Amino acid sequence: MSDVPSTAPIITVQQHILQEQKRFPGASGEFSWLLSGITMATKLIQSKVRRAGLIDILGEHGDVNVQGEVQQKLDVYSNEMLVHCLSARESIGVLASEENEKPLLVHKGSENANYAVVFDPLDGSSNIDVNVSVGTTFSILRRPAGASLDDPERWVLQPGSEQIAAGYVVYGSSTILVYSVGNGVHGFTLEPSVGAYILSHPNMQMPAQGRYYSVNEAYCDTFPPAYNDYLQRLRSGALGHRYASRYIGSMVADFHRTLLKGGVFLYPPTESNPGGKLRLLYEANPVAFLAEQAGGKALDGTRPILDIKPDSIHQRTPLVVGSRVEMEEFERCIVQNR
Ligand code: AHG
Ligand code: MN
Ligand code: MN
Repeated sequence: MSDVPSTAPIITVQQHILQEQKRFPGASGEFSWLLSGITMATKLIQSKVRRAGLIDILGEHGDVNVQGEVQQKLDVYSNEMLVHCLSARESIGVLASEENEKPLLVHKGSENANYAVVFDPLDGSSNIDVNVSVGTTFSILRRPAGASLDDPERWVLQPGSEQIAAGYVVYGSSTILVYSVGNGVHGFTLEPSVGAYILSHPNMQMPAQGRYYSVNEAYCDTFPPAYNDYLQRLRSGALGHRYASRYIGSMVADFHRTLLKGGVFLYPPTESNPGGKLRLLYEANPVAFLAEQAGGKALDGTRPILDIKPDSIHQRTPLVVGSRVEMEEFERCIVQNR
């Protein structure tokens, strides 16, 4: 090990965004200001997530209630933080969240409101109580030409191919933010002592093939036959090696592993969720955007996720997302089962 300190520049997510923004002609800093709303909110969320087991204990001693703060579930708290931080950005006209039935109009009447942000404030929330990774996903869309402030749904009912940026944060062994503005995928790790996201994973590329598949196998007797054929091929060594399985039950964490290590994550149609369980706008679209930017692929079983024109903001979809080799094999299995 050398004692010489690294001379590599430290790049924060804010610096990175300012650099990326030069790709948007006419952008005047509004986009980086918008994204800083997401970074701020996710820092607040991670600090609460890190204290998850303590909040009730401290609350009983009064230091939570003294502030008049009612104990809230972390997914409600996370939603409030995102809405609060993003509402302060004048460039945003519409917010849509898993936790709100309808899209929220912000800055009614502002001519400067050019963007909509769609998000899942806390993904994998059933894992909170057992100290397993959770996350936040987000997708940013431009206000469609001619869309009025009276029709917020129109702002967000756009196919994923129209996303101008998307990303997620995983609150795992460290807090990591991964985002793309359509110019590659970049990961930033939160340095807790200074409260800054620092570039740690520039230009992320999914390996062409991985070693894991990730699916809730408890439901496999209700998957369509093509999915079971596919999983059997992965298990049997038909792709060169026998696959192992990993399933966390937080899509963000399962996808993050798939992005770094390759492989495939699936949430197929099941008996209880024949149209899939995951939500198109704020779960499937952001990970599909990132996967495609990183050399992978995302399908709803047959169609590219990013081609789906949504009908409603909480619409669900099956999702199969992964590396090139696994996705090509999946497509072969679908064709053979027709
Ligand atoms: P959320 O916590 O936002 O409701 O999302 C949970 C989702 C997703 O994160 C995960 O992949 C999936 O639910 C797990 O579902 P199963 O328990 O049916 O496998
Ligand atoms: Mn979710
Ligand atoms: Mn959620």
